[in-house]
This record gives sequence, C-alpha cells and structure tokens, in this order.
Amino acid sequence: MSSRQFYDAYASGYESYVRRHAGYLFAVEKAIIEVSNGRSDIALLDVGTGTGERLQRLVLELLPNRVTAIDNSREMVALARRNCPVADVRTLALGDPELSSAIPGGFDLVTCLSNVLGHVPRDLLVPGLRQIRSLLKPGGTFVLDVNNRYNAASYGGGRVARNIIRDCVLPRGRSFTAAYQAGDEVLRTQVHLFRPAEVIALLRKSGFASVRVGFRDYATGEECGRFAGSIVAKAVRI
Ligand SMILES: C[S@@+](CC[C@H](N)C(=O)[O-])C[C@H]1O[C@@H](n2cnc3c(N)ncnc32)[C@H](O)[C@@H]1O
Repeated sequence: MSSRQFYDAYASGYESYVRRHAGYLFAVEKAIIEVSNGRSDIALLDVGTGTGERLQRLVLELLPNRVTAIDNSREMVALARRNCPVADVRTLALGDPELSSAIPGGFDLVTCLSNVLGHVPRDLLVPGLRQIRSLLKPGGTFVLDVNNRYNAASYGGGRVARNIIRDCVLPRGRSFTAAYQAGDEVLRTQVHLFRPAEVIALLRKSGFASVRVGFRDYATGEECGRFAGSIVAKAVRI
C-alpha cells in the first residue's frame, strides 16, 4: 500500500514505535534544540510531522515565533493539529510542486525526522530537498534523520553485509518493507533505508553546501559509529 494509506491506518498505533525508540527520539530532539543555540525568535518547519507530538516538544523548548508542519497523511495531520495547536499544519507532500507556493518560506530551522525521506518517492527526493532548501533563510539549518541500511546493531551483521554486497551490484539499493499489525490485518509499505554517502550526495545535489552526518544508537540515542546507529544529518543553506 502507499505510504499515505499506511500512515492513515498507522496514526492511531504510532505510539508503539515511539515507545520502542524513545531514547533515540529524545536524543535527536535534544540535538535539534542545541542547534538553535538559545534563540527563541525562530521560524520552524517540520516536514512529515506525523502525530505532531515531537513537534510540540520542540515548540515547548524552542519557543519559535512561527511554526508550520506538513504531512501527506490526513490522519496524521488531524493528530498533529490536536497535539501541536500552535502549528499551522497542512496536508501536503514533500516534492509536491505546489509546496513552495503553498507555505510562506523564510524558515530558520527545518526538521524532517524519523526516516520521512525513506517514504518519499526516489525521483522526488532531490526536488523535495531543493524545496526544503528554498524554504530556509540563508544561514538556516536543516536537520534530518533516516534509517541507516548499514546499522548492524539494529539489523544484524549478516543483513548489513548482504546490503553492502547488494549495493555494489544495485547502486540504487533495495527497498525494505515496514509492517504494522492493525487488528487481524498486517499493513505493509515499501520504505527506503539510506547509505550514509547517499544522504550526503542527496543533500549536496540539492544545493546544501555545508553538510554534516553523524550516527546515533537507534535505541539509546547515544552517538556511535557508522555501523551502529541511525543517520542524523545537519545541513546549512549558505
Ligand atoms: C515514521 S513517520 C515520522 C513522523 C514524525 N516525523 C516523527 O518523527 O515522529 C513518517 C511520516 O512521514 C509522512 N510522510 C511520508 N511521505 C511523506 C511526504 N512525501 N510528504 C510529507 N510527509 C510524508 C508520513 O505520513 C508519516 O507521518
């Protein structure tokens, strides 16, 4: 099923994912708060905001003067509007040609968290990232995290070795299947897990000159090596 159908159905059960990865999610949020350097007059955009609970936590810490969020799942948008009442939450997809005209730009900080990019169609990744870049102010920061297909700590050494071999043969990599048990039914959608070098290349191709990539344990959120955690990237619009 499409990502939109999957997240419409998953919206009410999403908290099970949050519980499993709470340490990681909170550590990424803490890193985002550090990026803002104590400034409270910022404009913040969250892309693929999901339930909006993480955005609400960021809002309470960052005290931004403008908050916008997008998600292409109507069910997620409904939850986000409830969970983060100060945000202007829109049902829009990253990569949708109307996105740039639909929301006013000039953001200081754009976030795109928990592998949202893994759900964006591959041919829309660079156009979508270019949209994010154009929505940022010069000097503005983009923070994203995606699943690392070489994360042996989470996926096992054998699977990661297979991924590395496959990636040598199929440079675009293979998609994975995310599953969610909804009652008696198992819902599935294709999701892309990224190579660290792929994230850097995508950001550079989208016009971000300053790109930094790090790794965090997917359970605890502690900083770790490239084969032991998820990818957390920071890019600045020069
Ligand atoms: C794994 S959830 C992450 C939600 C939230 N960012 C978080 O960290 O809890 C992925 C979210 O991305 C949204 N999404 C998927 N494709 C999208 C797209 N092209 N544009 C905007 N949102 C998208 C889904 O509907 C879902 O809410």
